[in-house]
Amino acid sequence: MEFSKFSRHFDPGSGILRLMDDLGSAEHSEQPVRMLGGGNPAIIPEMEREFRTAMEDVMADGRSFEQMLGNYDAPQGNLPFRKALASLLHARFGWLVGPENIAITNGSQSAFGFLFNLFSGEFADGSHKHILLPMTPEYIGYSDVGLADKPIFKSAKPRIERMDDLLFKYRVDFDNIQCGEDIGAICVSRPTNPTGNVITDNELNRLRALANEKKIPLIIDGAYGLPFPGIIFNEATPVWDENIVLCLSLSKLGLPGIRAGILIAAPALIRLMTGANAIFTLSPGRYGPTLVSEMTRSGRLLTLSDQVVKPYYQKRSDEAIERIREVMADLPVRVHVSEGAIFLWLWFENLPISSEELYQRLKVRGVLVIAGEHFFPGLTEPEWQHTKECIRVSYAASEDAVREGLKIIAEEVRNAYQDQSNSQRERSNNLERLAI
Ligand SMILES: Cc1ncc(COP(=O)(O)O)c(C=O)c1O
Repeated sequence: MEFSKFSRHFDPGSGILRLMDDLGSAEHSEQPVRMLGGGNPAIIPEMEREFRTAMEDVMADGRSFEQMLGNYDAPQGNLPFRKALASLLHARFGWLVGPENIAITNGSQSAFGFLFNLFSGEFADGSHKHILLPMTPEYIGYSDVGLADKPIFKSAKPRIERMDDLLFKYRVDFDNIQCGEDIGAICVSRPTNPTGNVITDNELNRLRALANEKKIPLIIDGAYGLPFPGIIFNEATPVWDENIVLCLSLSKLGLPGIRAGILIAAPALIRLMTGANAIFTLSPGRYGPTLVSEMTRSGRLLTLSDQVVKPYYQKRSDEAIERIREVMADLPVRVHVSEGAIFLWLWFENLPISSEELYQRLKVRGVLVIAGEHFFPGLTEPEWQHTKECIRVSYAASEDAVREGLKIIAEEVRNAYQDQSNSQRERSNNLERLAI
């Protein structure tokens, strides 16, 4: 079969494809697999009960169930849900949003493909623009969505701040950000996948000011963040204005299977997203919005985020870090301070093998993680060793899987350092022998 050049965009080598493939095959594997690689949310029994009750309510409510299954929604997405969400956001945060500011997509991932291609590539005046990622590491899922022939991202290295014996934190390096005429939009995930970093209110306000000054939008990826599912462990303010494009999702509340993303933006952008929905998918799924409409109307969506989802992940994160202290005490490991999301970002300084090689060795041992080097889209600076010294580990899997997985990671990393010191010893013995 012969394919057009378009096929290049769907290269089987894509990091996100491999990640999702790993996720799918782990679920059906006959061997025990500790799945610490994907972005699957945790099973939180209380949330499962909520969704079951919500579904029972839909089924008991006249013909709601039949309408949910039997009708296409409008291409902008379910109107009762959009109205309920707009009222909630207005009431709780004072945001001036109405249903015309909201579009539903089949997962927030599909919104990123649309947004990045909208704000990068060739513009009417012949200029070529990029998406600025002010801080890498950034979400692996952004990497391959560009449909232009040229790379779409420009990104910057962070500043690294070493904290206590084990922790470190990335900070936006404002001196290193170049936001010239060739930038069409700025994008950050908050919390950041893969690191669990939450850029501070101050950093976010500086990015807002930069975007406003340059008259370009600031895209905030809130898949794990605010106002829901609220997986943020420190103080952070939810923000929106007409220059912000806020991408939310129902996935990390515990609903990745229904594929529901939510875009909150200026009406002009929402109208384009609506057009893209109609052209590419006819209409976005109706299942998710129907299921969570009532909890959105009542505000319970925010209560659950704050009182169930957030504390659940906070506890799991603390336990995973404790486990790392226990099994990696002798290793030169650092963990990015866990401020949100569902991952830990482990940095093994001067790791003698690449993080990709470590991923392969761990896979053989039945532990799936993600190699760090895939999380630096748009970074064009000369080889930065740090990119190959990190891995992303999800702590949303079962407690046993996380405990066992971390122990096996410790063993493989230890082997790698030991092999290096053994071969260094052998080399110096050989040199000594030659000298004699
Ligand atoms: C940072 C980030 N943004 C967006 C997404 C897309 O999520 P979904 O398409 O399920 O809404 C993910 C998924 O893991 C993510 O980690």
